[in-house]
Amino acid sequence: MWEYTDKVLDLFYNPKNQGAIEDPNESGVAVVFGEVGSIACGDALRLHLKIEVDADKILDARFQTFGCTSAIASSSALTEIIKGLTLDAALNVSNRDIADYLGGLPEEKMHCSVMGQEALEAAIFKYRGIEVEHHDEDEGALICSCFGVSDNKIRRVVLENDLTTVEQVTSYVKAGGGCSSCAAQIEDLIAAIQEEKATTAKVAAEIATAKEQNRPLTTVQKINLIQSVLQDVRPILIADGGDVELFDVEGDVVKVVLKGACGSCESSTATLKNAIEVRLQERVLPSLVVQAVS
Ligand code: FES
Repeated sequence: MWEYTDKVLDLFYNPKNQGAIEDPNESGVAVVFGEVGSIACGDALRLHLKIEVDADKILDARFQTFGCTSAIASSSALTEIIKGLTLDAALNVSNRDIADYLGGLPEEKMHCSVMGQEALEAAIFKYRGIEVEHHDEDEGALICSCFGVSDNKIRRVVLENDLTTVEQVTSYVKAGGGCSSCAAQIEDLIAAIQEEKATTAKVAAEIATAKEQNRPLTTVQKINLIQSVLQDVRPILIADGGDVELFDVEGDVVKVVLKGACGSCESSTATLKNAIEVRLQERVLPSLVVQAVS
């Protein structure tokens, strides 16, 4: 028997925003849905959004879910969280936000919160005309063939939820929960991510010390710091179907490659300036400028 919080039980017995959204045929308003899972596999969620086109804002959100107590509560929580948000703000909602709204979920049920986050992204990508296969998670190497889970999807839940074991990954995205032949690969991936995190923390500490002592950054420190800023920006770009990769650093010029939707996006210059250059200037050096290379 799972231990559920009162909030989970309340939203299961009295779900808010259940059902579909009919197209109102109003000018300036769009209706879209995104879905994940399949009834044959156990859980399925269809998330409906009503969007104010000019403001790029979610006016209403409703859900249709086939699943367990936590799947229904997570779906209901998600709709409550995202109503009134802009689409960009909604893309920052993580599975952790859904679980926190519910006062927590049993670890074995965390995949329900991940399903909510994925349905939200699916709906927004569909509205924005971004093919799901352009999304970074789906371009990664397949790790778990039983559940069709890529390395990027595992990386994301490991980072966002600070996971350290294969069992936890299985609870969040099901990978490893079938034949288990992917367990060793998942374990290696977790170890690599934890190592990257430890390196990043070490670099951050070295840089903080250098700044405190008014010492200029070494070239290696500068590049490491630039890499860590780009790592922070990547989830935002990935959420929009794009990505960024460091190409080279020449003096104060940081050369990057914009990938996916970012590479072909008309506002890629704004992305470079607002999302990347401003952060680099704040966190690395005020004199840095960013250039896109192809
Ligand atoms: S390949 Fe991952 S559980 Fe079978």
